[in-house]
Amino acid sequence: MTLPKRMNLKTLAVLLCIVTFTTFFFGYTLQEPSSYFFKYAFHSSAKAPCACRRCLTEAEDDPWFTERFNQSVQPLMTRDNSALSDETFKWWQSLQLEKRPANFSEVVEELFQLIPDDMLYADAGPNRCRTCSVVGNSGNLKGSQYGRLIDSSHFIMRMNQAPTTGFEEDVGARTTHHFMYPESAKDLDNATSLVLIPFKTLDLQWIISALTTGAIKDTYIPVKSRIKANKDKVLIYNPAFFKYVDESWLEGHGRYPSTGFLSLLFALHICDQVNVFGFGADQRGDWHHYWEENLLAGAFRYTGIHDGNFESNVTHLLADKHKIRMFEGR
Ligand code: C5P
Repeated sequence: MTLPKRMNLKTLAVLLCIVTFTTFFFGYTLQEPSSYFFKYAFHSSAKAPCACRRCLTEAEDDPWFTERFNQSVQPLMTRDNSALSDETFKWWQSLQLEKRPANFSEVVEELFQLIPDDMLYADAGPNRCRTCSVVGNSGNLKGSQYGRLIDSSHFIMRMNQAPTTGFEEDVGARTTHHFMYPESAKDLDNATSLVLIPFKTLDLQWIISALTTGAIKDTYIPVKSRIKANKDKVLIYNPAFFKYVDESWLEGHGRYPSTGFLSLLFALHICDQVNVFGFGADQRGDWHHYWEENLLAGAFRYTGIHDGNFESNVTHLLADKHKIRMFEGR
């Protein structure tokens, strides 16, 4: 059956319009991230929670995520939130037992006379787009060429012994936050925030000592007695947040969360976009650090303290649900 030529062209044009519109609208709305654009562009009442192309939290969020994510738990310790409930304090004290712990609130008071007591990063809103790179220590970073991408974020978070010198092409050169505890401590430059993850009261005493007298030389092993770091940029990971990560996100799997997982959850709470690098084994299944030649050297997998599989499953679920982007390396 043939239609008149004019009709044919007109129908074709209309059809083309319909096909283009439906493909653009329905096709894209089913995919990420354009659905996000439509959601907030065409619903005048809906306001994007942040200024990025995608935000971490949304008005109608994934139930798996909302069951776990609790915005009200503060990632950093301040004088105001430092009083822990009995339950939290007991849990925290059980992580690394101390024979004769000092008085917690006196140590906290002394600490905040030395370091700032500011409520940082609680400025989420429609005008903020804070991008973050969380860089774990996996050997999968070797040869990855992620350096420029890592450095392009506003915040770059590294941890424990992680070096950058000599590895810039793969891991980047900038660090805004470096997570550590006394037994994993490392000197930093003046511009980097040291984020102390305390496992015991002695760890809070250690940071005071390491920035002043250098009197504390051992915890359960010998530790750095002095540390190079800008004391005005020292931050303390909140023990209550530590417990929240362990309970809500890891459901108590492992003795306690790894530094990497604690850093990742910290980022999830203070950033609008999170890119994750250097987590997991390399292509050959090795778990070493990116700066080590010895493939068996990376202790992370073998300590028995962390549940690496459970952490990895949660991390990959976060990626599947577009809450973070995982860069698997080589
Ligand atoms: O070994 P270390 O604890 O210093 O590494 C920091 C973090 O990097 C770990 O807590 C872990 O989350 C991540 N990591 C990893 N795979 C490795 C080494 C480290 O996922 N091979």
